[in-house]
Amino acid sequence: MTGRLTGKVAIVTGAAHGIGGAIADRLAADGAKVLVADIEETAANSRADQIKTAGGEAMGLKVDVRARGDTEAMVTRAVTEWGRLDILVSNAGITDRQPFLEMDDDLWHRVMATNLYGVFTGGQAAARQMVAQGDGGRIVQVASNSGIFGGRGRAAYGASKAGIVNLTQTMAIELAEHGILVNAVAPGATRTRVTGGEFPPDTVMARMPLRRFGEPAEIAAVAAFLASDECSFTTGHVFCADGGFTVAGVMEG
Ligand SMILES: NC(=O)c1ccc[n+]([C@@H]2O[C@H](COP(=O)([O-])OP(=O)(O)OC[C@H]3O[C@@H](n4cnc5c(N)ncnc54)[C@H](O)[C@@H]3O)[C@@H](O)[C@H]2O)c1
Repeated sequence: MTGRLTGKVAIVTGAAHGIGGAIADRLAADGAKVLVADIEETAANSRADQIKTAGGEAMGLKVDVRARGDTEAMVTRAVTEWGRLDILVSNAGITDRQPFLEMDDDLWHRVMATNLYGVFTGGQAAARQMVAQGDGGRIVQVASNSGIFGGRGRAAYGASKAGIVNLTQTMAIELAEHGILVNAVAPGATRTRVTGGEFPPDTVMARMPLRRFGEPAEIAAVAAFLASDECSFTTGHVFCADGGFTVAGVMEG
């Protein structure tokens, strides 16, 4: 689309579907070579094939972000294939919910391992590679409105996303001296396979000025900027792509 990522090598986790898929498409359209990393191997490969059909460069890889060995291997694979790594987008996530009083350890650990531990190990492996290369890089992590406000049923999910917000700040501080900029995008209600209906639920619509679902490509546009060299003086921040949800106060009268 812009060519601003020409020559860059990127990894996007959870890139087979939804928001991650749109981010992979967008980074490739902007000129990056994209490793499509996902626990669903067939879907990852078919996303990579679609990108290639559209004229981009991509490769699929089965990665379970809950396993450190997998996140380290995905960095190794990108470097083996394309010689370097410039961009990591840590997007893979699950949205499992349960009321706080009933929440079991299995759900807590599953959500934390996917949504937070995977961001830690993937970010660490990518940053170590970028530090070794010596010319900086960009890390973009996908948080959520639920990491900024509390929300019913979201004890684990919200805590995992709030963890991403703070991890983004700490990584930004520690990696700045290496020219690695770390930011997050926090989507609001976005139309993917995990959401249903034509519009977000009334409880969300009641405090959303734009009053509609975001589309994955709209989240991808923000991520693509944060992944680019045009994002040069911004690090440690969280960009809410949420139709205004997190800033809404009185909506009527
Ligand atoms: N859709 C929304 O409204 C919304 C809102 C806020 C934040 N988010 C966040 O956006 C991200 C993408 O969500 P989505 O709505 O596109 O969901 P999705 O289910 O369509 O996509 C998630 C992707 O992650 C992959 N994945 C799941 N577990 C994995 C693992 N262990 N290792 C590797 N890949 C794994 C899935 O296979 C899938 O391709 C998530 O982090 C989610 O929390 C989504």
